Amino acid sequence: MAKRYFHYDEIASEQSAGYTKALGEEFVPGPVDGEDLIRSRTQVAIVGAGPAGLVLALLLQHEGIDCVVVERQTQAYVETRARAGFIEHRVVEFLRQHGLSEGLDLRGVPHTTCEFRHGGSQYIVPYGDLSGGAHVVYPQQFLVRDLLELFTSRGGKVLFSHPAVKMEGMEDNRAVVTCVVQDSSDSPLQLELECDFVAGCDGFHGLSRTSIPSTHVMTFTKQYGIGWLALLAEVPSSMKRIVYALHDSGFAGQMPRTPQVTRFYLECLPGDLESEWPDDRVWRELRKRMAIDGENDLITGPIIERRVLDMRSVVTEPMQYGNLFLAGDAAHIITPVGAKGMNLAIADAEVLARALIAHYRKRDGTLLREYSKTRLPHVWRVQEFSDWMLRLIHSTDGSNEQAFSERLRRARLERLCGSNAYANLFAESYVGR
Ligand code: APR
Repeated sequence: MAKRYFHYDEIASEQSAGYTKALGEEFVPGPVDGEDLIRSRTQVAIVGAGPAGLVLALLLQHEGIDCVVVERQTQAYVETRARAGFIEHRVVEFLRQHGLSEGLDLRGVPHTTCEFRHGGSQYIVPYGDLSGGAHVVYPQQFLVRDLLELFTSRGGKVLFSHPAVKMEGMEDNRAVVTCVVQDSSDSPLQLELECDFVAGCDGFHGLSRTSIPSTHVMTFTKQYGIGWLALLAEVPSSMKRIVYALHDSGFAGQMPRTPQVTRFYLECLPGDLESEWPDDRVWRELRKRMAIDGENDLITGPIIERRVLDMRSVVTEPMQYGNLFLAGDAAHIITPVGAKGMNLAIADAEVLARALIAHYRKRDGTLLREYSKTRLPHVWRVQEFSDWMLRLIHSTDGSNEQAFSERLRRARLERLCGSNAYANLFAESYVGR
């Protein structure tokens, strides 16, 4: 079949509707040999416009390396999807160094202390002073919007509503990513994107990880048997820092987001339905679990999002198959404890970008070959911290000796506030130093 090739500059990329229209009216006079198929070429095909994909795209663009981002969702969806919000000190510094931090410098709020509540006591950890670093609270969707704006304003191409449906040829240097151009027509167009490398930045439910033959990867999974009800409430934070409340009825947490919106978490059963947690039950539990000596200062208000999350962690090894490189949630997911997911994703993108730049600019493939080996020890170190913290804040530890676990938790918190060495280790891991 004769295939027509287009460069992306020829294709309106803003919205799939405009794109299809442009293709239909100007580029493809009806089906090409009976099939609606477009081919194009780029150096790096980036699948997924989350933090990992967009950071990678911007770093490559800066070096003049051609890349195209394909994204399953619409632009409006990715720019408003509320996810994480805590950016580690090291990641903030990295974004600053690369001129990607304007929004977070303007609107982000630095945080340097967190608080644990247990048995009527408060344990405040000044992790910023201890580690010489701080978190910046800046919602992930704001960062995604900033990165998208930067990338597209510099001429970068993001094809929204283009789910990747097939990846092939990664093992023999002939990588092709096939996307469906979603629109309202009955026979959707297909786009074949030939590339040197595929960056699989398409999250845990994406296509990249599952495109690797099972004989070439190992997946390590930990199911904690714990659920969290993740809530977004339209209220200012009652307490100006992160609060982890350890209670007999289960964990409760407060994470500041913006002056108008706060994230709360409530431990629940993994199979719980959102409908089992109406507003009055949510606020009752939050008030009870966060109280100190029966008192609390919780501001209540409308709940705008509620989702039950399963506490689980997954790591895929290696993070590479031929010319396909996995970054971010596509390679590993981590429980939200310790707020590490987005930070790991950006750190992967940074290392992958450096490796691709060395390949194109210095003809040196060493960093690419070592990408997985470089990232995995860091990924496991962060998993270890999150696992430790998860055990600190939940009473469930697989045994029935509740009273014993309670005392262990108290001993850990007392060490955290009484031993400099212990607190320093926590602070360093927490801010990602
Ligand atoms: N084709 C194209 N895009 C896809 C496909 C596909 N087949 N499958 C998924 N995607 C897109 C998703 O729609 C999403 O926009 O890939 C993107 C992946 O982005 P994220 O899930 O944000 O993943 P990542 O960039 O690794 O960032 C990880 O996100 O999950 C949160 O809290 C987590 O903070 C962490 C961060």
